[in-house]
Amino acid sequence: MALSSEEIMNIQKTANIVDIIGSYVSLEKKGKNYFCICPFHDDHNPSMCVNEQRQLYTCFVCHATGNVFNFVQNYENISFIEAVKVVADKIGITLSEGYKTVSKYEKHYEATELALKFYQNNLKSKDGSYARAYLKERGLSDETIQEFGIGYAPRENDALSKLLINKGYDENLLMSIGLSSKGNVLYDLFRDRITFPIHNASGRAVGFSARIFYESDDAKYINTKETVIFKKGEILFNYHRAQTEARRLKYIVVVEGQMDAIRIYESGIKNVVATMGTALTMEHVKLLKKLNVKVVLCMDSDNAGEKATVTNGELLEQNDVDLAILRLSGTKDPDEYILKYGIEAFNTAVSNAVSYFDFKLNYLKKDKNLNKVDDVTNYINQVIAELNKTKDDVLINLTINKLSEDYGIDRNILLNKVIKVEPKKTKVIEHQEREKLKKNQRLSEILLYYLMNEEKYIKLYEQELSYIPDETYMNIAQDILAFFIKYNYINIADFITYEINSDYYTNVLNIIDKYANMELNDGDFIGIIDKIKTWINEKKIMELKNRLKVVTDMNEKLSITDEIAKLKKGCVNQ
Ligand code: UTP
Ligand code: MN
Repeated sequence: MALSSEEIMNIQKTANIVDIIGSYVSLEKKGKNYFCICPFHDDHNPSMCVNEQRQLYTCFVCHATGNVFNFVQNYENISFIEAVKVVADKIGITLSEGYKTVSKYEKHYEATELALKFYQNNLKSKDGSYARAYLKERGLSDETIQEFGIGYAPRENDALSKLLINKGYDENLLMSIGLSSKGNVLYDLFRDRITFPIHNASGRAVGFSARIFYESDDAKYINTKETVIFKKGEILFNYHRAQTEARRLKYIVVVEGQMDAIRIYESGIKNVVATMGTALTMEHVKLLKKLNVKVVLCMDSDNAGEKATVTNGELLEQNDVDLAILRLSGTKDPDEYILKYGIEAFNTAVSNAVSYFDFKLNYLKKDKNLNKVDDVTNYINQVIAELNKTKDDVLINLTINKLSEDYGIDRNILLNKVIKVEPKKTKVIEHQEREKLKKNQRLSEILLYYLMNEEKYIKLYEQELSYIPDETYMNIAQDILAFFIKYNYINIADFITYEINSDYYTNVLNIIDKYANMELNDGDFIGIIDKIKTWINEKKIMELKNRLKVVTDMNEKLSITDEIAKLKKGCVNQ
């Protein structure tokens, strides 16, 4: 990032969050605070509070929260830096030269945007009449064509390349963004195809998928190759349009093809994205996780779609995404399904989507003859293997009961197979430990929230504790301290800006999100400090007990037991 944190923080201090948010929505003052209808969910009563003193906004319902930049970023669906620029413009601050180099790919984006406009105009021209007819035949409305920026790349060899060269873009740039290629002469890569622009998460056009619309042996779609601004594994088609609605409705539909996404979107379900035919990557999962909503995975109906459901489902499941599986039948894909059965039927199917586990149980039955002993044995072992991945006792029990009924196998035999891998006793302990961990995480988060708010808490923390036994939280505490030492004050709004480039940025936003409405109180803070001290003690006791197991020297054993006893009484200074 080329802009310095100082510069960004200066903009933040000059801007008043009340004025900036007030320029987007209407604010009403009640007591010290301002309130408005929250633009980030389907709000009917004003549930967003803007706190002038702290320069933060928080929605009591959907928990959207952050500083002035976060608001603009989410409202306009742009990047953080772009939001800084918007706020700077609004308050009349000119950004240093730095901003221009913020995206070293500005020219790449510009040229892609011009190509998009060029294709769009072409679709409307006489040349585009066949393409228009095709789109009409497929039932896409003019509004949809406009909204998705669908266009037509003309037949000529170099119509686009020529135009962009004339506008001052050089050959290398056009080749590097995948619009042109060069043999003897420069020529366009997309010719005589319908173009679907693809945008990144901040809504900038970065590439195209181009479809043939007449009988041909050529590939149905050709796509922009990997470029510096177009990384297929990091982009979900329609993500930038879908995210607000997904957050509002708390789910997102994931399909394979962009035509499927467009059809679903046009039918009124705007919270839909497409993988564009590739397997989900970790980057895709991260994008989906950021929404914090249920993912309804709806791959094509064919065998390939079923395989994609397994691979994508497995990845989402492993990454703790709240997942539902939708398998349509009767048509090849969601696009055709909606054309054939209507959007209501699709909506019903979405609400009937099953868990990944249920899908897997069914999937494992495929290609097996469950009247044959071998196949049944195989099936049951595979199901048990799935059960061993889950920690959900209820699910394990229900499944075992069903297997026992369906195949007439003694319940205990099945149960034993599961228990062998996961003994009941350790499960209870594991559960307790998980609960404890959650409690300690909560303590650390609250502690950090206090530290971000007032310097007196930073001082108290330094005196009383100066340590959190968890690496992530400890690092955030160090960042808060570093901020305080550098600027000699603390407030959340500025600290968020300071953290923008830190690995812990999302953690910090999450903490604010959770506790933004919490009243700060000295007594409570001391209580938190005490509990963290107990946590540290318990951790030390654990370590000592482990050492006790390996130490042989009697004197050392004695001194360790002594130390443990002292720690248990809580009379040892940290
Ligand atoms: P599909 O073959 O399922 O296409 O490929 P589709 O979505 O049904 O498209 P229509 O309805 O025929 O227009 C799914 C996705 O795989 C990618 C595209 O992104 C497509 O949307 N794909 C497919 C390619 O990249 N190249 C191809 O040749 C085919
Ligand atoms: Mn299709």
